[in-house]
Amino acid sequence: MNAAITVTARYLPEGVLSNQDLERMLDTNDEWIRSRTGISERRILRDPKKATSYMCGEVASQLLQKRGLAVEDLELIIVATMTPDMLFPSTACLVQDIIGAKNAWAFDINAACSGFLYALNTASQFIKAGTHKNVMVIGADKMSSIIDYTDRSTAILFGDGAGGIILEAAESEDCGVLDARMYSDGRSGKDHLLMKGGGSLNPATHDTVDQHLHYIYQDGRMVFKSAVTSMADVAAEIMERNGLTSDDVSWLVPHQANQRIISATAERMGIDESKVISNVGRYGNTTAGTIPICLSELDDGGHLRHGSNLVLVSFGAGYTWGGVYVKWQ
Ligand code: UT7
Repeated sequence: MNAAITVTARYLPEGVLSNQDLERMLDTNDEWIRSRTGISERRILRDPKKATSYMCGEVASQLLQKRGLAVEDLELIIVATMTPDMLFPSTACLVQDIIGAKNAWAFDINAACSGFLYALNTASQFIKAGTHKNVMVIGADKMSSIIDYTDRSTAILFGDGAGGIILEAAESEDCGVLDARMYSDGRSGKDHLLMKGGGSLNPATHDTVDQHLHYIYQDGRMVFKSAVTSMADVAAEIMERNGLTSDDVSWLVPHQANQRIISATAERMGIDESKVISNVGRYGNTTAGTIPICLSELDDGGHLRHGSNLVLVSFGAGYTWGGVYVKWQ
């Protein structure tokens, strides 16, 4: 039995950080940010007492309500995040507590920007195997908690947000999550996009704080090149394996890191821009949140119909990347 996405939801905090705000904080300007990234503003969870689990909890409650699923019937919660509330317990356990899903087990997946697709692929195996009737999958990151707002090369890129889905058995064999290809390359990726401090290698000390090691570090140019090639390659692979032409694809839902990466991926796939989902201009890069937020906006807009072919592709730290083919049920 294939796994089908039966409901979607998203949460974006109200606080807005615009390019004009960043102009006042950093040596940057709106024109540079928009032309190099396509980003105009991002959302920031400003309440210091609220973290990733809060955004996940908002998504989880909406999912249950929209689907009409009793919380006691929820069987598994998987949260994809690289900004957990704390190293342990997992954010998924905190979400389980927030919504009172006492019969669910819960765990996190950390694959950075590919986290949601890794979690979606993992979750779909539990449905496929027939061991679970429903699994909640949430991608969420409070990126503002690990951004150095004195570093113009990263501060402009990221925002906070969360999105999620529930997976259940598909009504028929020809719809649902039909294919997935996942990749990792730690050799090429580990030095170009990372947070050096806070783990077992560099536990927090005054020194690690002074050296800004608890913030995201990225070699943008290196990551850019790998992101374009890998997202386009995995999308092409998904299309070829499933006999899809660019005309057959209803929607390309790419990870939202940079409009130039999104456009280059679509161009290499020969997919018309009108079928490429982009909201990076409004939210920036919400890491594990980008793809489920896009799905939720598509769904709420009435753009997902029975038989719609969706190709989801991502690329992020690790490196990690992947593609998933979903036929909407
Ligand atoms: O989601 C995880 C995956 N991450 C990504 O996919 C991100 C991939 N990388 C990127 O999106 C782009 O590389 C960036 C947007 C981060 C940077 O764009 P770029 O076109 O690669 O710029 P660059 O790093 O090559 O910098 C070009 C110039 C530099 O000045 P010089 O050396 O040419 O004088 C930078 O110092 O732009 C300068 N610069 C800025 N100027 C104004 C860098 N950041 C800024 C800024 N405002 N915010």
